[in-house]
Amino acid sequence: QTVINLGKLHSFRKRLNSSVSTCRCLLVRKYSDVPRKFISFEEVAAQRRAQARRSLVVQVNSESSFKELHGYCSEYSDIKGVHHYNNSSGEHFMLIEFASEENLKDVLKTCSAHQKDVDVMSLQSPFLWFRAVQGKREKYTTPATSLAITEGNAAVNEDKLFEGLTTCASVSDQIQMLYDQTVLNDVGVRLRYMVARQLEVIFASLYSNIAIRPFGSSVNGFGKMGCDLDLVLTNVLPEEMSDPKKRLVYHEKKCEGGRNPWQRHMELVAELLELRVPGAGRVTRILNARVPIVKYTHEFTDVECDLCYNNMSGVYMSELLWLFGSLDPRVRPLAFVVRRWAHTAGLTSPHPGRWITNFPLTLMVLFFLQQKTKEGVVLPPLKYLVQRAGKEDVRIAEDNLNCTFLRDMNKLPPDTYSQNTASLETLLVQFFEFYAQFDFQDKAISINEGMAIRKPNGLPLYIVNPLEQTLNVSRNVSYEECERIRMEVRNTAWQLETAMEEKTDDWGLLCLIERKTSRGLKKLLRVGNSQRLVSVKDLFKDDDSVPCENELKSKLE
Ligand code: GTP
Ligand code: MG
Repeated sequence: QTVINLGKLHSFRKRLNSSVSTCRCLLVRKYSDVPRKFISFEEVAAQRRAQARRSLVVQVNSESSFKELHGYCSEYSDIKGVHHYNNSSGEHFMLIEFASEENLKDVLKTCSAHQKDVDVMSLQSPFLWFRAVQGKREKYTTPATSLAITEGNAAVNEDKLFEGLTTCASVSDQIQMLYDQTVLNDVGVRLRYMVARQLEVIFASLYSNIAIRPFGSSVNGFGKMGCDLDLVLTNVLPEEMSDPKKRLVYHEKKCEGGRNPWQRHMELVAELLELRVPGAGRVTRILNARVPIVKYTHEFTDVECDLCYNNMSGVYMSELLWLFGSLDPRVRPLAFVVRRWAHTAGLTSPHPGRWITNFPLTLMVLFFLQQKTKEGVVLPPLKYLVQRAGKEDVRIAEDNLNCTFLRDMNKLPPDTYSQNTASLETLLVQFFEFYAQFDFQDKAISINEGMAIRKPNGLPLYIVNPLEQTLNVSRNVSYEECERIRMEVRNTAWQLETAMEEKTDDWGLLCLIERKTSRGLKKLLRVGNSQRLVSVKDLFKDDDSVPCENELKSKLE
């Protein structure tokens, strides 16, 4: 939306020795007459939820069903857009967005159902299929809306990505490209909101005022294509329903049986997922954990889901990460490359255990960006956002947890924005140098303070939970894993020094990240050689939950 003077861009780039994309972001900020306008996390979530309420996902024969499906639905409603994707089973789907929720209801009135027997029951959900017609077909005109062909939830083509990275002009461009090509795209976000909407529709009659909200990397701006979907179920009564003056009151149902009521509700939810949610498969119950969750695979969209109850602090945490990510355009690309590096180095794993995960790694990136370097800081500490919070920002989560911080970044004084104009390349090198020297033994990482604080206990890695400062989000990390982090950080700091200078085959990022195929083999070899070799007894030690069969299998492998 801002016209950039190319002459300015190039002179700015020269001065900074920075990438075009980084300069573009900085220039938009520096020379734009348009005031910066942040859209709040809640506004984005509300827009996405509304979009899902007026959308359907329809399984079709192939891409060529577009004209017929479009023609058929247009007879009843206005269509805003159609996106096509394949799932991993090769099935074809069209995500249709209608002009309004009313329009969608008109289409739903025309739907039919299929009921073979008690073991195949039909039900209403926003996931449908388009019946092929035998014999004479209706003739539909070519639609005005064009079909967007998308990857759905498929992970990025690694070969293409590596080809692109090789041709970049600078390491900063590589970092930006890695981010641009792997970040969760619009259809990935839409599909995740559709998965959430499906549960809302199906459970609506059981839980009053139900809301199923996505949180975690699917919505915090740090999600990549194919990332999992964290969902939270809430059923808070609206104010008008809690009015004591109203005379007719619904009877309640007491949850009997002594155990934690929400554990029992999550058991029911798991049963419902198995019996009543089309597309939901491989349901796993992890109900004895601190936050009981039900895991399932959504087969129509290829999304792995973790559903929990009332964990609003997880949502506010995602909001916090989202805000930090939107304060400066370099935050997310830098976090992406660090997360990818950690994955390549085998420091993270898709399975829970004694190693670091993406969430604390992201906090480490934010913390580094709060440090004062000779170029200045990039991000303010969280306490700065807490001090500036108004009445409208007050949020109290479960267990009376205060999650209040400034939500509207438009209210920040202009001098909050970083004067630091370091390129992504410089920031990446500084990240590894910073942690190569960090005193993990005595210090804790706190994004609240923006500076290292004394560790309150002897746990190997201490990263303060920003919303519950007495907790450590990396309490699960073992001494060996923490040592591995320190070692990998030091090695990488050293490795980068040479990789930045010499233009060999694996210059820049190419030496930090590698293709998935070879990574799998490398990791297997590493597991065989290192302390990571786990015994069955170890698998159950210190763990909140019993690993599910698949996790167990993969750990044993
Ligand atoms: P990936 O799933 O690896 O892509 O990243 P993620 O950010 O989604 O991490 P994860 O699925 O492990 O956790 C989901 C979200 O839960 C995080 O983004 C945080 O918002 C929140 N979360 C994770 N760990 C904690 C914790 O210890 N305390 C609290 N309050 N929230 C947490
Ligand atoms: Mg997640």
